[in-house]
Amino acid sequence: MTFSTSQQIVLASGNTGKIKEIQAILAKHPIIPQSAFNVAEAEETGSTFVENAIIKARNAALHCKLPAIADDSGLVVDALNGAPGVISARYAGVGASDQDNVRKLLQALEGVPDKQRSARFICVIVFMEHAADPFPLIAQGVWEGRILTHPIGENGFGYDPVFWVPEHNCASAELTSAVKNSLSHRGQALKILTALIKAREL
Ligand code: IMP
Repeated sequence: MTFSTSQQIVLASGNTGKIKEIQAILAKHPIIPQSAFNVAEAEETGSTFVENAIIKARNAALHCKLPAIADDSGLVVDALNGAPGVISARYAGVGASDQDNVRKLLQALEGVPDKQRSARFICVIVFMEHAADPFPLIAQGVWEGRILTHPIGENGFGYDPVFWVPEHNCASAELTSAVKNSLSHRGQALKILTALIKAREL
């Protein structure tokens, strides 16, 4: 199988923000959400971000018969031995809201001093040329910070209100989306993946 500069790519996500962000960077490749093919979401059974990203990309490539991109991301907190990790979206239970997850995180860290509240957002993005691709392209982005004791800011989503960004002396939820994208785990991983994909194009 060959991969050309104008080849369509399916994205294993229906998130319109992610689609726009990826389409803007990979301008020559039409990016199609897997929902356009009625693909059922794959079960994220992996215990690492990279395993889950591969599971999702393989599922999309298999059902859409196209090259596929999938990402998996989350928050890793040192004092919690890496939790919430791959279950960041459902830390407080399946269907939990962002507020539920943040509340559970702050409770788990109650009494933990500032210096021991180090954490990082991780994003792994995977590209598979086809479902049996034995050599997926893998890009990882890491954004270092600290967990606050209470939420601040209105922007972003998920754990942004409790993620302290040392470079800007504020919470991630106080950054504009442009500034966040220039620093974030997702922005970094996307840049790396773009370079890897361009190197694989004919
Ligand atoms: P997913 O990559 O869409 O599966 O996201 C996993 C979960 O990690 C999200 O639901 C959020 O709780 C958390 N997360 C990932 N990236 C961010 C971010 O940039 N800000 C805040 N929370 C995030």
